[in-house]
Amino acid sequence: MTQEADRPILITGGTGGLGHTVVRQLLANYTCVVLYRSPEAWARLRQSCGDTARLHGVEADLTDEAAVRRAVEQARAEVGLLYGLVHLAGGFLAGGSVEDTPTDTWNQLLSLNLTNAFVTMRAVLPQLRERGAGRIVAVGSSAGTTKPAGIAGYVVAKASLNVLTDVLAMELKDTGITANVVLPSSLATPEMLKELSADKLVPLERVAATIAFLLSDAAASITGASIPITVPGSA
Ligand SMILES: NC(=O)c1ccc[n+]([C@@H]2O[C@H](COP(=O)([O-])OP(=O)(O)OC[C@H]3O[C@@H](n4cnc5c(N)ncnc54)[C@H](OP(=O)(O)O)[C@@H]3O)[C@@H](O)[C@H]2O)c1
Repeated sequence: MTQEADRPILITGGTGGLGHTVVRQLLANYTCVVLYRSPEAWARLRQSCGDTARLHGVEADLTDEAAVRRAVEQARAEVGLLYGLVHLAGGFLAGGSVEDTPTDTWNQLLSLNLTNAFVTMRAVLPQLRERGAGRIVAVGSSAGTTKPAGIAGYVVAKASLNVLTDVLAMELKDTGITANVVLPSSLATPEMLKELSADKLVPLERVAATIAFLLSDAAASITGASIPITVPGSA
């Protein structure tokens, strides 16, 4: 067994546009447990990953904290003590300025892009502490640092995710557990490719490769980083 195969990774958002590519890439080296909310979406992911014993799935909606905690314990029972969390779940939902954003939409955006990360990180951390080593990698957005007008809820939620990851990195100093966030610009997901040409979008493999690097031993000293991932040639 390789060292990585003994380092199980929990992945949220694995059934999404970015998720399929990330899960497929990580399966090359890691046992992966995908925390999914839709059995249909999980079945599609399993099909796209082919026949592999390294892929596990546990059902839970991230807005249900008790279900997330149960799912994380079930993951441990199936694959052993977790080594990492790759938190991809999030999304745009709706735009709008501060003045134009209904409070319900604001709360949904904060739940989807911030609170779900907080809940999942809290649920996974005891296992990483027990291992004495581990990795947390969150997926934010370039919008969290460039702060464009007109998408207030998304910008505030993603900027806050950067702060959450940074605070966690400080709290985990000297534990052997790192916490980092990657900040892609618009991604070449099937949805985005309906609107923009591929040369204006970040290839999904680039994001997956950056996440794989942050999980690796080579990145053991990198923590508290917010890493932009831009369209090739646009930096
Ligand atoms: N697309 C872009 O251009 C872009 C650009 C920059 C950053 N990002 C960020 O990259 C990440 C992935 O984006 P994407 O385009 O792959 O999004 P997506 O296709 O909408 O996928 C979102 C994923 O999150 C899961 N999810 C959402 N709410 C959940 C909940 N309550 N419980 C469990 N799972 C939940 C979804 O599950 P279901 O499959 O069940 O819906 C899905 O797997 C997001 O954080 C997004 O903000 C995206």
